[in-house]
Amino acid sequence: MYKDLAFDHDDYTIDQLRDLDYELDEDSMSDPDFRDLVFDDYAIEEPEVFLDVPFVPTDEKVVQAMLDLAEVNSKDLLYDLGCGDGRIVVAAALDRNARGIGIDMDPMRVAEAMEYAGNTGVEFMVDFFEGDLLEADFSQATVVTLYLLDLVNVELRPRLLNELRPGTRIVSHAFDMGDWRPDVRQNFSGINLFKWIVPAKVAGSWQWQAASGETYKVELQQKYQRVKGKAWIDGKKAQLKSALLMGDLLELQIQTTPESQAASFVMRCEAEQLVAAEGDLQATPAVRLEIQTI
Ligand SMILES: C[S@@+](CC[C@H](N)C(=O)[O-])C[C@H]1O[C@@H](n2cnc3c(N)ncnc32)[C@H](O)[C@@H]1O
Repeated sequence: MYKDLAFDHDDYTIDQLRDLDYELDEDSMSDPDFRDLVFDDYAIEEPEVFLDVPFVPTDEKVVQAMLDLAEVNSKDLLYDLGCGDGRIVVAAALDRNARGIGIDMDPMRVAEAMEYAGNTGVEFMVDFFEGDLLEADFSQATVVTLYLLDLVNVELRPRLLNELRPGTRIVSHAFDMGDWRPDVRQNFSGINLFKWIVPAKVAGSWQWQAASGETYKVELQQKYQRVKGKAWIDGKKAQLKSALLMGDLLELQIQTTPESQAASFVMRCEAEQLVAAEGDLQATPAVRLEIQTI
């Protein structure tokens, strides 16, 4: 009886076909009208979603700890990559007055998140999109939250470093980011939380004029937020006592000899220059002499 049907019947049982809302019985399968049906028109739509991480929601207390760690405030645009039911994005809007965007590959989760935002009255502050977090554009974020897996974090890492603006905060629930060490690691009720601040790209040679009239030059090497290098004052070798990078702020302490008082320059990385951000020791912005890749 099945042989005449115009679809691959081997994969379907009568019981499954009954679930398609037809009034079927075994006899009706031989009905000539039924034979003309194209099965694809009636197939149950089961979305094929291949998740990199299963849905496990973050506990509400941990959500608050993540928002605290990221210092989320009303100026922020928070992206939760793999947003699940939207609880981090909604909490950021409800409790911190921040705008938020959630991205999830699972349409069920996106629907839940939208419903949750509507129920809590923050739908005008948040948006949820169905998509692959590994491909989505999150470059406008000021805060990114993650509850993924370490391997997925590592896969995301180059995009986080290259596409987010320096100073953007990233907070991850439970999973780190390979050899990109966090700026802060916190244990909250037995759960590890990690925070990174996206560093500006400062590797290379820089030169500037100090208020004293001396010309300073540094050659910096950079691995993520860690910076080291060499310094010269008026062409003579000096000591780069310390180099601290946090987001777009760089503090360089330079001294003539290990015994001498170090001059401390606090600079902000702006449009390929290092502009004085504190104090009056620096007379001109530092300009790049060459670009060094890291
Ligand atoms: C562990 S849950 C975290 C949910 C939410 N961020 C939270 O902390 O409550 C991970 C989420 O990532 C989503 N996901 C997994 N792979 C994804 C991908 N490639 N693109 C977008 N979302 C993905 C899953 O559907 C799931 O909702």
